[in-house]
Amino acid sequence: MKLFSSVNDVQDVNALVAEAIKLKQDPFAFQHLGKNKIISLVFMNPSLRTRMSTQKAALNLGMNALVLNIDKEGWALELRDNVIMNGTTVEHIREAAAVMGEYSDIIGLRSFPGLKDREEDYSEAIFNKFVEFCKVPVVSLESATRHPLQSLADLVTITELKKKERPKVVLTWAPHIKPLPQAVPNSFAEWMCKADVDFVITHPDGYALSEEFTSGATITTNQDEALKDADFVYVKNWSAYEPYGAISNGNEDWMLTNAKLDAIAPEAKVMHCLPVRRDLELSSEILDGPKSIVVHEAGNRVWAAQAVLKQMLEAL
Ligand code: CP
Repeated sequence: MKLFSSVNDVQDVNALVAEAIKLKQDPFAFQHLGKNKIISLVFMNPSLRTRMSTQKAALNLGMNALVLNIDKEGWALELRDNVIMNGTTVEHIREAAAVMGEYSDIIGLRSFPGLKDREEDYSEAIFNKFVEFCKVPVVSLESATRHPLQSLADLVTITELKKKERPKVVLTWAPHIKPLPQAVPNSFAEWMCKADVDFVITHPDGYALSEEFTSGATITTNQDEALKDADFVYVKNWSAYEPYGAISNGNEDWMLTNAKLDAIAPEAKVMHCLPVRRDLELSSEILDGPKSIVVHEAGNRVWAAQAVLKQMLEAL
């Protein structure tokens, strides 16, 4: 594997999930693959889980990891082409990516969307530019429209914990106070549409995701109907795709509570990619209770990253 930016870069999704679960049993079995190899983890935005789990995955594989918070520790980057750099930016992404490629065998990049210009964000202009100029394999640590390492960890978690061959998985919109990207729900939808699950998406009016990611899913604005008899409920806020980046008030009752789940989906396990705002996006009683598998899910970020990096090392 030379690029991991979406589920479309994976030859065999089931095999990758199985690989992650196997690595969990024997984390250090492939240390020879990463010996004397460098992964650079480049963050244009904050992170806890992605940073630590990918670094741990790399160390498990015998690699050395360089972590750069380029938004805080690097030169101010110019991301646009054909501009005279007489403003605040100091270094162009063309040189920066190329130089980081000189120091790295694999690069991970996190670059969030601006949520102002949908065409620009959905073209993945920054991520693609980085891939083009760094000239080494690249793993997405969350881009403008997708978060594939998160989605792989989510599928690993569902595969491990499911009690029936084809579980019902529901992605439900949740309230928030600020506009968030669509990357996590887009990506989760894209992976679930390729998985052996009954997949339902529910959101209030005005929050439909791009059809590019949801083909094959059942989509409804009736949350109760969607949640009925769910085995897994994936909670996430996102801002509108149309009008792009918009949010609206008045959907506070979309936050999951024990009472709501007990009545409709008593067996459901609750997932969230984290970080989560308690009692705004998801109730504390769920997070602190037996329905929540959010920490288990975050733990699986290591094995997801390790499975991807292993395939990249094997292809070097
Ligand atoms: N879920 C996730 O990507 O967490 P971080 O933003 O903390 O990396």
